[in-house]
Amino acid sequence: MIRTVRPIEVGPVRIEDPVILAPMSGVTDMPFRRLVKRAGAGLVVSEMIASEAMIRETRQSILMAKNAPEEFPMSVQLAGCEPRVMAEAAKLNEDRGAAIIDINMGCPVKKVVNGEAGSALMRDLDHARRILEAVVGAVSLPVTLKMRTGWDHANRNAPELARIAEDVGIRMLTVHGRTRCQLYNGHADWKFVARVKEAVRLPVIVNGDIDCFEAVERALEESGADGVMIGRGCYGRPWFPAQVMHYLRTGERLPDPPLATQLALVLEHYGMMLDHYGPAQGSRIARKHLAWYTKGLPGSADYRARIMRIEDHRAVPDEVRRFYEPLLERRAA
Ligand SMILES: Cc1cc2nc3c(=O)[nH]c(=O)nc-3n(C[C@H](O)[C@H](O)[C@H](O)COP(=O)(O)O)c2cc1C
Repeated sequence: MIRTVRPIEVGPVRIEDPVILAPMSGVTDMPFRRLVKRAGAGLVVSEMIASEAMIRETRQSILMAKNAPEEFPMSVQLAGCEPRVMAEAAKLNEDRGAAIIDINMGCPVKKVVNGEAGSALMRDLDHARRILEAVVGAVSLPVTLKMRTGWDHANRNAPELARIAEDVGIRMLTVHGRTRCQLYNGHADWKFVARVKEAVRLPVIVNGDIDCFEAVERALEESGADGVMIGRGCYGRPWFPAQVMHYLRTGERLPDPPLATQLALVLEHYGMMLDHYGPAQGSRIARKHLAWYTKGLPGSADYRARIMRIEDHRAVPDEVRRFYEPLLERRAA
């Protein structure tokens, strides 16, 4: 029995189908978000942008904050630990056309938590409140919050942070069902997310390990959440959120696009990466996507090794075709 989900109102932004692409550094750049959104997704979120870098308007942060009209509504995620700086960074993104500002209190990476940002903020809820208040006060856009269940198992304070967030005017919460100390180990605890859902009236999105239709169903069932956020399950599958949306609406499990459609999409994605980053950087960053697209296809390990070695970006599309075309012929025969 499929658990149906309803549209969510995030302030003035209506998310028709609450199936959301997770923010992922190095992955959810503008080219990838555009592909996901075009296939179908309720909302896409930028990579985490360091607020300090944002207010200095570094080249990298500007590129991360860049958005395209067809992604709308899109959300920009900010990380940081200084309320004033985060507020200023949020304002800059409002001016640059973001529809939603998301605040990162979930990132477990040492470089981030040692700066007392990301999930480190779950250890100091007074400070977390000051940040949330400052950002909510700085923009007229809706502000959302992404968190983990807590710092470690003994301190799973996500429900408490959720109540603070609701109190200061946050409009939606996403909970990755792991603690900071779990990093990416173990399994996301979707049942714990139910405690956050019970603590507030805000829309709550469940996240972590949702990579197939069964996981979508179980995560919604166990958490009682209003929607799902999908990260690694979209690697090489920008169409996955669209399949999930369709599944939640109809119960039907659409197959992956035909291989010929996938090949065209891979080549288009590669071209978008070169445009976005410039050829040298773009072709380097594209490698992981090219590899993910072929996971599970025959001969993909050798292909991935070849792709990683190509230095001349102009040689890549031919290598991609050389891999896919024999598979297409075999399938047609
Ligand atoms: C490569 C990578 C980069 C990530 N970057 C971010 C980020 O910038 N901001 C954030 O809030 N979470 C980030 N995350 C966490 C994801 O948004 C998500 O919470 C986590 O991967 C669990 O969901 P999943 O099992 O669907 O991937 C990242 C995860 C991965 C794997």
